[in-house]
Formats: sequence, C-alpha cells, structure tokens
Amino acid sequence: MDTPDPLDLRAWLTRIDALGELRHCLGASADLELSAISQLNVKKHNPPVLLFDDIQGYEKGFRVLTCSTSSLQRLASILRLPFQDSHQSLVKALRDKPTQWQANAHKYNPVVVDSGPVFENIQSGDKVDLHQFPAPLWNDADGGQYIGTGCSVVTRDLESGWINVGTYRIMRHDKNHVGLMMVPGKHGHIQHSKYIQAKKPFPVAIVLGADPLNYLISGIEVPFELSEFNYIGAILSRSISVVKGELTGLPFPSASEVVLEGWVYPGDQADEGPFGEFLGYYTGSASPAPVMTVERIYHRHKPIVIGSPPSKPPNDYSYSKSVMRSALLFNALVNSGVPDVHSVWAHEIGGSRLFNVVSIKQRYAGHARQAGHILNQCGVGAYMSRYSVVVDEDIDPSNLQEVMWAIATRTDPEVDIDLIKRGMGSKSDPMSVAYPYSAPLTSKAVIDACRPFEHLHDFPTVVDISPEMQNQVREKWKDLF
Ligand SMILES: Cc1cc2nc3c(=O)[nH]c(=O)nc-3n(C[C@H](O)[C@H](O)[C@H](O)COP(=O)(O)O)c2cc1C
Repeated sequence: MDTPDPLDLRAWLTRIDALGELRHCLGASADLELSAISQLNVKKHNPPVLLFDDIQGYEKGFRVLTCSTSSLQRLASILRLPFQDSHQSLVKALRDKPTQWQANAHKYNPVVVDSGPVFENIQSGDKVDLHQFPAPLWNDADGGQYIGTGCSVVTRDLESGWINVGTYRIMRHDKNHVGLMMVPGKHGHIQHSKYIQAKKPFPVAIVLGADPLNYLISGIEVPFELSEFNYIGAILSRSISVVKGELTGLPFPSASEVVLEGWVYPGDQADEGPFGEFLGYYTGSASPAPVMTVERIYHRHKPIVIGSPPSKPPNDYSYSKSVMRSALLFNALVNSGVPDVHSVWAHEIGGSRLFNVVSIKQRYAGHARQAGHILNQCGVGAYMSRYSVVVDEDIDPSNLQEVMWAIATRTDPEVDIDLIKRGMGSKSDPMSVAYPYSAPLTSKAVIDACRPFEHLHDFPTVVDISPEMQNQVREKWKDLF
C-alpha cells in the first residue's frame, strides 16, 4: 500500500539498504540468541542494522530490527541531516537544531488520516495475542520478555489533552497484558498519576515499530506539554500523518508496524523487572509497575518490532545518546559564554552522562576550569555527571586513547582535579549502594587536562607525525593503509 507517512520504517530501510548498512539474520532464538548477536554487532566499528526473521518460536515474517541508530550515517539519515564524515561533524550539524525544532514545533500538528498500513491487520477482544509478536529475553537475569524497548508510548493528559510520546520499556505478562516502567517524573508517569487520582482508566497506545526517528525522539527529553509528534514534524519540516485508535482515540503514525492499544485500569499493577540497564548493570529488582490490558493490536503484514536493549556500553542506543547529548552540551557551553569550544563528546562508556569531555583553545587563565565546571553543572549536564574532562584543541574528545593520554601527561592531580560534593546523582547509579547519602547524590570531578595556561609557551612539544606527512604517506602507500 502506498503511504504518505514520513515515519514509514520500510521507506527508511530501503534507503539504508542502498547505503549497504542492512544485514539479515535468520533462525535466531528470541531467548538470548537474538540479543547476543545484536550486542556483539553493536560493539563493531560502524555496525550495520540487523533485521531478524524466522525467529524460533514465531511465525515467519514477524520480525525484529536492532542497531537502528548505531552508525554515523544512519543517525544522520534518521535526523534528516546531510552525510557526515565524523562524529564531531554530526554533533556540529546537530548543535543548533534542537532549539530550532522546539521553536517550530507548533507549526506541525499531526494530520489525522482515516487509514494506513497499520490497519492491515486488527486483533480485538479474545483474538488479541501478544505471543505472536517477538518479545526477546535480552539479558539472562531479566525478569521477563520485553516486547517494547525501541518503542514509543502514546498517552494523553487528562486535563489539557496534550499528547505525550515516551520510550518506556514494556514487559509482556501474558497474551493481553503488558507492564510499563515509567520512572517518576517522566511525562507518561505524570499523566498516569492524574488518571489514578481521578480513578479513571488510563488510555495507552504503544508503537512497537516505525521510522527510528519516532523512538529516537520519544527517548529524549522533549519539553513538558510539547508533543513529540509536533517536534518530529519540525525535524521533518512536514506534519506526520496519524490514524486514531478505535478504542482510545489516541493518535499514532499511520504506517506504524505494530501498535498495542488499551487501558491501564485503576489499581492494575504487577511486578516488573529486573531489567539490564544502560550503564551495564542491574540496578533495580522486580517491583510493582502499571499493567496495561491490551484490547486491540493493529499491525502491518510481516510486522517489524524495533528492539533497542540496554546493556554494558556500547549498547544499541548508546551511540545515538552520545551524539544527541554532545550537541546539547556543546550548545549549553556556548550559550553560557564559553569561547572557543572546539568539540564535545559525551562518552558511551558513561551512558553519555558519567564521562564527558570538551576540547577548547585556551584563551585566558581560568578558561579551562570555566569550561569544565559548566560542562559538569549546566542544565543538560548535571544529572549523573561523574567526570568532566577539559582538553586542548589538539585532542579529539571522542577518542578515549587521546583523552587518557592528555590526562596522563598534562595533569598534576593535586591541582588539576576539582571535586564537587553532593551533586545530582541517581538511584540507577551502581555506586549508590556504597554512598553515604539517603538522597540521590554523588560527588563529581572536573579534570583539567589542558596544558597549564602559564606554560603554554614552554610546554614540551608533542612527538607525532604531522597531518601533512600522514596524508602524504597514506596517499603514496595506499596498499599499506
Ligand atoms: C531505549 C530506551 C529505553 C528507555 N527505557 C525507559 C524506561 O523503561 N523507563 C523510563 O522512564 N525511561 C526510559 N527511557 C528514557 C526515556 O525514554 C526518556 O527519559 C524520555 O525523555 C521519556 O519521555 P518523556 O520525557 O516524555 O517522559 C528509555 C530511553 C531509551 C532510549
């Protein structure tokens, strides 16, 4: 069926296939095997996107896609940005965009259409069967099978009607029930609380697959009361087309692959988790979470579920988070008046929160500390910011080898590490088990790994091959390089 929906996953997959970044995988078991393949894949340099079919225990054609956002060119394509030659150039291309998207979002209300590929198949009432759709066991100590990881949960505010779209993990309980894990403070959680207070059923629609832009944006902090669907419209410079669920009237992209629709009835909850998390640890145990009764399933023929499991980084979505957060941090530094910021990188090893690096061209005494403290404490950076490192402009912040070389050779630990006490932490910090605080606090370090400002003129010269010489020999001895 032809579709004008710009969030059609299949149109995006065709473009990615043309780039040579799509691989097929047949016959894996959803019980850890599929996950293991994905996790090994994502640790490769420039990993392809993986499309799993013939998944053991599931009907052929009921597919899973992983690693969708894990390469430079795929992420650029998802964000509708031109091709980029480096992570840093992608960060720079992205830097001003979130402000523009936010300002323009009001112009792009979704367009409601009557039908779309998502309505090709409809299950309702007793026919609803979640077991038809692959719900992998992603890591061996997970408390269950998770059908929603790279998903988008659509909900509506009881008072204002604002449509929120958030990525929250979804555990399958049985053929028509799933558990939703919404951390307190997340917009979906706030909306749900209002329905609980009013003792009303909470309407929910869960999009399990669409163009990865959908889940990329539902997985980042879009401002309160701004719908992610409008924000996505601003990225695309056109409104998305949505259909409305038969039961709840909630909108979802008309070319969605699979949508679960239903209600969380007052008081319905059950144990959910544990689930391997983005820093690479199990930091929680099974605990009660809202349960949704799925009363409709809409799906395309041969539906594709997007999987995006967390695990020890690099994981399925750590690269995209690094790029998005690096762009936000870059903007925050510049907007705070820090001059000559060269580049910023929020490292995957720290879940793009715990280990962030900025490179600057030092202009004045104190410039490096200023950049480091603002990187550590700015609005988008302060949560869980354990280490913030400042390096000179000759160091690539995204290259850990270079960053650690700068730390090893350009610091005097006694004077170059500033400690901040009782900063913003999190209960999902694995170190919280050992902390003395009852609140989510942590200490932080700002590491000034720049050459000392007053010794810029006499600091020992770096021993390295000049870029010109590198180019010359690479060109001349192509077969060697
Ligand atoms: C793959 C992935 C899984 C996530 N899982 C959860 C989750 O289970 N619960 C949660 O509260 N946030 C989760 N997040 C983070 C939220 O999606 C993110 O904070 C987002 O801003 C929430 O939307 P909201 O701001 O509209 O509440 C996840 C993010 C990603 C990318």
